[in-house]
Amino acid sequence: MEKPTFYITTPIYYPSDKLHIGHAYCTVATDAIARYKRLQGYDVMFLTGTDEHGQKIEEKAKAAGVSPKEFVDRIVEGEKGVKDLWKLMNISNDRFIRTTDDYHVKSIQRIFRKMYDNGDIYKGKYSGMYCTPCESFWTESQLVDGKCPDCGREVKYAEEEAYFFRASKYAPRVRELLTGTDFLEPQSRVNEMVNNFIDCEGGLQDLCVSRTSFTWGVPVDFDPGHVVYVWLDALFNYVTALGYCNDEYDELDKYWPGVNIVGKEIVRFHAIYWPAFLMSVGLPLPKKVYGHGWLIFDGKKMGKSTGNVVDPYVLAERYGVDALRFFLLRTFPFGSDGSFSNELLISTINTDLANDLGNLLSRTTAMVGKYFGGTLPWEQEAGEEDADLLELLGGLRDRYETQMEKLQLQNGLAEVFRVIARANKYIDETTPWVLAKDETKKPRLARVLYNLLESLRICGTLLKPFMPASMDALAAQIGADEAAMSWEKANVWGVLPFEAAVVKGENLFPRINVEKELAALSALTAPKKDPIEPFKEDAVFDDFLKCDFRVCKVLKCENVKKSQKLLRFELDDGSGTTRQILSGIAAFYKPEELVGKTVAAIVNLPPRKMMGQDSNGMLISAVYKEKGEEKVRLLILDDAIPAGSVLC
Ligand code: MSP
Repeated sequence: MEKPTFYITTPIYYPSDKLHIGHAYCTVATDAIARYKRLQGYDVMFLTGTDEHGQKIEEKAKAAGVSPKEFVDRIVEGEKGVKDLWKLMNISNDRFIRTTDDYHVKSIQRIFRKMYDNGDIYKGKYSGMYCTPCESFWTESQLVDGKCPDCGREVKYAEEEAYFFRASKYAPRVRELLTGTDFLEPQSRVNEMVNNFIDCEGGLQDLCVSRTSFTWGVPVDFDPGHVVYVWLDALFNYVTALGYCNDEYDELDKYWPGVNIVGKEIVRFHAIYWPAFLMSVGLPLPKKVYGHGWLIFDGKKMGKSTGNVVDPYVLAERYGVDALRFFLLRTFPFGSDGSFSNELLISTINTDLANDLGNLLSRTTAMVGKYFGGTLPWEQEAGEEDADLLELLGGLRDRYETQMEKLQLQNGLAEVFRVIARANKYIDETTPWVLAKDETKKPRLARVLYNLLESLRICGTLLKPFMPASMDALAAQIGADEAAMSWEKANVWGVLPFEAAVVKGENLFPRINVEKELAALSALTAPKKDPIEPFKEDAVFDDFLKCDFRVCKVLKCENVKKSQKLLRFELDDGSGTTRQILSGIAAFYKPEELVGKTVAAIVNLPPRKMMGQDSNGMLISAVYKEKGEEKVRLLILDDAIPAGSVLC
């Protein structure tokens, strides 16, 4: 029989910088869902990838002095790049799309043409407030305190000839989709979308879907100079990766529609424009768009620009990939924001993994070894303490499934850990070490241990999507083969043979020393000190004495016309005449800040012409680096020192 299919996607990530634990959160969650569906027997297609076009990438590449393609290649394919990170995190994606892939570029051109031909894309003129990092135009009313409502940064007025998508035409159908179905989840995000973008003043506006202000994008093939708006290019990845409008793949009918997992700030694109685009080209709509919350760090969204990024490589290396995957999904409800902290990470690993699951496994296998030489006997005896544990265990798969189907991954895990806690309690209730002292109680002891092994088997099976490698190791320790660790067997008791044989293995989740580890982590994440300039070679003392350093008062200070760098100073050097000095510090000061200040200058250098003006000396500044960036601060002296005083 053919397996039913299931298609799931992550957003495609901007390769503008190295990815951080916030991105890993989204991909690990999607991976756990994909693995869960595979466990259930679905033929799963799991897609992730990178969103490589747009102005931001173009600018970053320019700053790095390489072509945009070279720039993204390095971040996607390079060492510790996006693909490496997903390998490290044991992500089981079946496909990886890059929007610079040839087949995708061609598909986007065909899609754009199709939407133009059917009248949903038309040419017009755009003027509005533009946020460069978000690559979004905003209307005045959408701005928050005059700034970008998504990222809070400055926006600037921009105008260009552009193509528009008739989003307005689809507003009623999109509205119906959002309010009348469970297309968008969590449901709490629906109102925000409808109120802010559809039922707002003026209704849903047509969307500007081409740009002429930069070139790094998919060219509109029938109108040179225009590139396709990065969000139209990006959103269609979910279907081009299956072969829509290209011959690279032929799996659209097999897998589409699927489930799109996205972060909350990009729900707008996925819940409004994405279905409208699909309506325009006549494709079925996604089964679901799920908008998860953010990983928050120090009260802010973790982000490259905020400097609060946590490196998944560091954490995975110290605690293991599975512990990190588990922490992300066990701790934070998927639909809401969650506050990341090292303390929470370590305490979750210690409590759930080392204490509860790890102990259950090591105690059980150790007891089978100690009391029965590693293999349980056939003769076993049930007891009245078994009922509660077995009942809870028997219903676990269903309770877990209910939560997982709602994508409540945290609750799915909570169900499993409830049973693990119950099994640990069962050990205390049945006191195997007391049973072991009495030869006649051996059959009872055997059954107690068998029940514990069965608990580990079922819990281990359901934890596989979250901690794949560790659960393979667990299976090996309890002697469970693949069939025993299957979905079908996860709600059945009595799958392991009664004469179960265990293999004592390594401790899967060692306990972490909290204080030591926290200190080590904060040392690792402490801001790195910028290096100072190397010291110069020895100088001749007489040469030093020849330099005439004087205290000066700033009488006047202004920008030099046509120069970004220079400030022009008029100084009182104590001589009675005004001295003019030009200094390249305009990037660091507003001229008016410096008027009246007492500064230091070397005054016996030969005059220099700069931008057509004479500079008679040099002001003394401190030059240093801050987070790798050059800074300059003028040396400001005590105002009590009179102009003309000698510095020596
Ligand atoms: N390229 C677009 C998506 C296009 S999808 C057709 C994009 N890229 S992104 O790299 O900025 O973000 C990708 C995903 O990472 C988003 O879903 C975003 O929410 C998620 N995260 C980035 N930082 C995050 C946290 N701190 N916490 C959780 N998820 C975060 O947007």
